[in-house]
Amino acid sequence: MSLIVDEHRHYLLDQTRLHAFCDAIRESVKPGNVVVDLGSGTGILGLLACQAGAKRVYSIEESSLIELAREISRANGFGDRIHFLKGLSTRINLPEPADVILADQIGHFGFEAGLFDYFSDARRRFLKPGGITIPQHLTFCLAPVEHQPLWEQIEFWNQPSMGMKFHPARTIAANTGYPVKLKPEQLLGPSEEPLTVDPSISGSQPLHVRCTLPINRAGTLHGLGCWFVAQLSPSVTMSNSPLTQQRIDRRNVFFPLDRPVSVQTGDSLTVTMHILPTQIAVTWTTEIRRADAPDPIRFTHTTLKGMLISREDLQRTHPAFVPSLSPWGAARLTVLTLCDGKRPLVQIEQEVLRRHPDLFPSLSTAATFVAEVITRYSA
Ligand SMILES: C[S@@+](CC[C@H](N)C(=O)[O-])C[C@H]1O[C@@H](n2cnc3c(N)ncnc32)[C@H](O)[C@@H]1O
Repeated sequence: MSLIVDEHRHYLLDQTRLHAFCDAIRESVKPGNVVVDLGSGTGILGLLACQAGAKRVYSIEESSLIELAREISRANGFGDRIHFLKGLSTRINLPEPADVILADQIGHFGFEAGLFDYFSDARRRFLKPGGITIPQHLTFCLAPVEHQPLWEQIEFWNQPSMGMKFHPARTIAANTGYPVKLKPEQLLGPSEEPLTVDPSISGSQPLHVRCTLPINRAGTLHGLGCWFVAQLSPSVTMSNSPLTQQRIDRRNVFFPLDRPVSVQTGDSLTVTMHILPTQIAVTWTTEIRRADAPDPIRFTHTTLKGMLISREDLQRTHPAFVPSLSPWGAARLTVLTLCDGKRPLVQIEQEVLRRHPDLFPSLSTAATFVAEVITRYSA
């Protein structure tokens, strides 16, 4: 079985998530509405929109899963009402404006799956004035966390392995957000909800979060636990919060501190977080105030320091760099040039093999390469 299909089995297994979307769709989609299912996957949200009375659903999916979604729509008797459009939503045009846009590109902390960029584009190009997006708003939630096993994952890099040192990786490990399913007992105090935004309006703008988190039990502070509450419709919310009974089956994000800090009831943690949704970059500054210490302890981390960037790639971003095509770039250019609206595929494959014999040992390897290029760029 395709692992992509299995991933979507997990989405369908999460009944809390599906019931939340179903209730929100029933509340928001009116009979006769035109609906966009953005990132449709198996098409489940579009099917629910049809059930709620949508006249037409435009189901946008960039992956080949769209073929399966087509079959599923027919199997449910909605084949004539759901129109499938393959491609990234930002590159798709719709034949008519929509009343409602649906998506679950929320990720673990609200922004990392692209919702902000995709929804702002979709609102501008797809939505009728006064139209509705589901979700409507997102709230960012933070809490102080004790999590020894995750801490050990970061400290791993300070230990030798086979007598060799690996500590250069520790900076990267300490500047990374970790997906993890937090348990309520791992929280050292109540959560705060410092920011609520409409992703379709906020778009790619930086997000700024600031709050003070009280500590209400003694323990060891290892980092921040982060999750979201999505307002799907006026009366329906959906959340991966470890503190709610109605938690959807989705992990949270753990952002570490540079070192563990012992805390007591009455201490506090002030967090300043800057999020760049398009770059999926987060900077978090923490200031821990302890009753038994005069000065706060401060740490600053950023996922920009957690990125792996080779010096070779970095050199290529310098404005003075003069790029030229590699042999593989030249082969790609050949394919694109041969796509002139006249030549059939078989001729393109043969010509690519003839012009690039060093790259392709056979017609079938050239054909695979051509297929990769044209499925992406040909009309
Ligand atoms: C998290 S899954 C959700 C699938 C489905 N909507 C559901 O609720 O079960 C996201 C799907 O959207 C697709 N996708 C993500 N961003 C997209 C975009 N901007 N345009 C088209 N498809 C997108 C992915 O390929 C994936 O199949």
